[in-house]
Amino acid sequence: MISELSNPSVLMRDPQKVEETLQSMLKAGSNTLQVISDFDMTLTRFAYKGKRCPTCHNILDNSELISQECKEKLKELLNTYYPIEIDSLRSIDEKLPLMVEWWTKAHELLVQQKIRKELLAVVVRKSDAMLREGFQLFFDHLNEHSIPLLIFSAGIGDILEEVIRQAGVFYSNVKVFSNYMDFDEAGVLRAFKGELIHIYNKREGALLNTGHFQELRARPNVLLLGDSLGDLTMADGVHKIENVLKIGFLNDKVEERKQSYLDSYDIVLVNDETLDVPNAVLLYLTGNK
Ligand code: TMP
Ligand code: MG
Repeated sequence: MISELSNPSVLMRDPQKVEETLQSMLKAGSNTLQVISDFDMTLTRFAYKGKRCPTCHNILDNSELISQECKEKLKELLNTYYPIEIDSLRSIDEKLPLMVEWWTKAHELLVQQKIRKELLAVVVRKSDAMLREGFQLFFDHLNEHSIPLLIFSAGIGDILEEVIRQAGVFYSNVKVFSNYMDFDEAGVLRAFKGELIHIYNKREGALLNTGHFQELRARPNVLLLGDSLGDLTMADGVHKIENVLKIGFLNDKVEERKQSYLDSYDIVLVNDETLDVPNAVLLYLTGNK
């Protein structure tokens, strides 16, 4: 049906179910579709030429806006908590308080750095941030077909927006739920706004934004893209959901995590740095294939 589903990076627990979901979504029409996607390591690359690519937080952490001492503390946090994030032997319940700890400590450190709003664009421009191969088609196609794209990220909204703005794809169909910075009158970071979004509370984040999902109530079919098991709840705010196709990028600790990804994502993409499969699905659902 979609030749890209035979790519070597693609794993599916139940290809028959994927086919049925796709057919049902195709029949409903692309005017009933919305896309909900995670950002870091889902829309952005995990690695390029053997080197890890930065998350929104890493873009700041590695920049000249952060003192050497603070960089070391942030690195220590990353080295402590990232292995916990991807540990397949710990349950989400066990990880959750530790993830809150990570985000809270990291944001406290960033706030101490007196980061200036006007420098964020410079820092993003100088960074190694990279959207996945095929991003242009992904964003352009959704925009051309007026399909809403919600980017739902536990990263930093201001940074994420700058990445997609500089890539020229921050179109009007794109909406972002994320952690936004709060600047004082002088443009200096003083806090983060609103409820913290971390990797395991996206369900709560979705339920706080009922207005958005209410506006999209005529679109009960969802294409969900994520790279963490925490991303699976991003569509929990969708009104009377009819079909959801979940595509998960499995970037790291592949063997240990393969089974849990296969159990929860409909399509698992193993070490795939491209958006080829999501793009092929979108082309299919919009009748371009
Ligand atoms: P996402 O929801 O857009 O994927 O963003 C969450 C990612 O951010 C998650 O994989 C962990 C990462 N992260 C950092 O790299 N550094 C940090 O300081 C924090 C708090 C999170
Ligand atoms: Mg992610």
